[in-house]
Amino acid sequence: MSPEEVKKKIVKLRQEIEQHNHNYYKLNQPTITDFEFDILMSDLIALENKFPQFSDPNSPTQRVGSDISREFEQVLHQYPMLSLANSYSDTEVTEFVQRVEKFSGEQPDYVCELKLDGTSISLTYREGELLRAVTRGDGEKGDDVTANVRTIRSIPMKLQGNFPANFEIRGEIVMPFAIFEILNRERTEKGEQLFANPRNAASGTLKMQNSSVVASRRLDAYFYYVLGENLPADGHFELLEEAAKWGFQISPHKKKCRNVEDILEYLSIWDQKREELPFATDGVVIKVNSKRVQEELGFTAKSPRWAIAYKFKAERVASKLLSVDFQVGRTGAVTPVANLEPVQLGGTVVRRASLHNADIIENLGLHSYDTVFVEKGGEIIPKIVGVDTSKRDPEATAIQFILHCPECGTLLVREEGEAAWYCPNEDECPPLIKGKIEHFISRKAMDVDGLGSETIDLLFQQGLVRNVADLYTLQKEQLVSLERMGEKSAERILDGLKNSMEIPFERVLFALGIRYVGETVAKKLARGIGSVEALKVASLEQLVAVDEIGAKIAESILSWFGKEQHLLLIERLGNVPLKLEAENRQTEGATEKLKGLTFVISGTFQNYSRDGLKADIELHGGKNVSSISAKTSYLIAGENIGPSKLEKATALKIPIITEETYRQLTD
Ligand code: IVH
Repeated sequence: MSPEEVKKKIVKLRQEIEQHNHNYYKLNQPTITDFEFDILMSDLIALENKFPQFSDPNSPTQRVGSDISREFEQVLHQYPMLSLANSYSDTEVTEFVQRVEKFSGEQPDYVCELKLDGTSISLTYREGELLRAVTRGDGEKGDDVTANVRTIRSIPMKLQGNFPANFEIRGEIVMPFAIFEILNRERTEKGEQLFANPRNAASGTLKMQNSSVVASRRLDAYFYYVLGENLPADGHFELLEEAAKWGFQISPHKKKCRNVEDILEYLSIWDQKREELPFATDGVVIKVNSKRVQEELGFTAKSPRWAIAYKFKAERVASKLLSVDFQVGRTGAVTPVANLEPVQLGGTVVRRASLHNADIIENLGLHSYDTVFVEKGGEIIPKIVGVDTSKRDPEATAIQFILHCPECGTLLVREEGEAAWYCPNEDECPPLIKGKIEHFISRKAMDVDGLGSETIDLLFQQGLVRNVADLYTLQKEQLVSLERMGEKSAERILDGLKNSMEIPFERVLFALGIRYVGETVAKKLARGIGSVEALKVASLEQLVAVDEIGAKIAESILSWFGKEQHLLLIERLGNVPLKLEAENRQTEGATEKLKGLTFVISGTFQNYSRDGLKADIELHGGKNVSSISAKTSYLIAGENIGPSKLEKATALKIPIITEETYRQLTD
């Protein structure tokens, strides 16, 4: 055969084999026997070995995996992989729909999908070929597991039809129950440890170093999210239908819903019917269909505002309450924890269960030695969901919530509208101090390498660290004198602390652990107010003028900066020196021309990105809000503006202006 002929033969074999894979795995209708399939495959392997110049990482021969061991390379996600907010009741789902409609000013379509209980994966395709497969990791970066993913036969390595040149697709890798059971049976025979559930089996398998073992485990994958520029449809549902044409196995049993009634119907059907599915599910994901509306709604730091997970009700057993402990968390919130008579639940023995807060104890009407019902969902700590009052001892007394902090004795406080009782002694109560330090050094805050909660416990016990500024006075000898601390580890901590001096202001602000100042709020404050010096003297009015800062957050900031010991702390942090001022903050051109005015923006703009326009409004002293009310000064209308925003503004007689008119306001 001439090289030309060889190449032709190889290409033909690959196409044939892919077609048989498709018939077998997707259509469940094989047209040849396994033996015939193996012959085709070994022909192809032989040819590829003999003519390596025609090898291709996306050839079906690669699906059998290789036994080369490797460490996984870490890859940054182009779009972060966020998680979803959870909901557990029809009411919470209804509230989600109401929130979506309030914020978007529309009544969009929704899509309900099963929430597959596996491990998530993000695939990148270029010109129709699988380029890379990355695990969720920490959401920002994950492991490159491409070689392992190539072994999953329902994942297309080459696409068909009219696909975009460049896109990402996300989905769930699952191990079907049938395969899971076979695997565990084999492991029992070999005396190996069993996998707890199909989810652990799927994620454990995907992280294996030897892809030929991965190939033998028969993982499967379903895709539920297409991302990229210039996608062929605005609707999420329609995009998934397109993706099916390109060769993906898409989110099964998805349904488009017009309103909350449709959604609740889907939930109640699948609550039952999921037991018939061949793979594990732990709920339903409800998403706004239109990508345009999704964009309008945007994201919080953790999850999209346009989607929510509904968790199915979990397994429930009865047990006896022995006693209640009160634990003080790092925020000062006091959590009651029940000690129970040990009971088997969802494959593990449960001895403790969370009671969450005082209201829950009261609503349950919990009495000592009550017979209680316990539930467990996924990884969550089990919780008490009910009491069997018929079994109550008539002498039993109601469980009382404590009045004083069990750690430091301070009188607990509860703010209006809050469920939790807090220990307010934030600068002296041990768990609060340790919690503040842990938060300060955490990855999203000052990211100090090498310092974990155990070391912090030791440093606290030894009296070496009482607040976050003390960390910067630590000497190498002091660290080395701690239990199990070598020179190398000590150096790593000191380097980590030194490197943290480069952390930008917004993260330092987040690291301080001021109540309600999360990552997003810290960013907004850094942009809107600019420095610790300015924050110290900021008024309530100045604070609430910042995008997304309301009275509750503003008051918490005022109260934090009102304390002498906090002013001292920031003075010491300033001397370290940490960055207590925003860099490259745009203050040039700042005016007060829009002072007292509030704006809603909607649609897309010619001369600004949406964030750019918001920043410009703030630069001139204006305030951005997301929904229209009688108090809104202007609606700035861009292209493709949401129709109901227009309607609402018209009804409330709010002036609707173009971006040109907006410019004149600030000129
Ligand atoms: S959508 C931006 N759809 O649930 C949100 N997630 O808690 C994108 N999951 O990490 C996720 N089935 O691993 C989506 N039909 C589905 C899903 C699903 C399972 C998992 C996924 C994600 C987690 C979110």
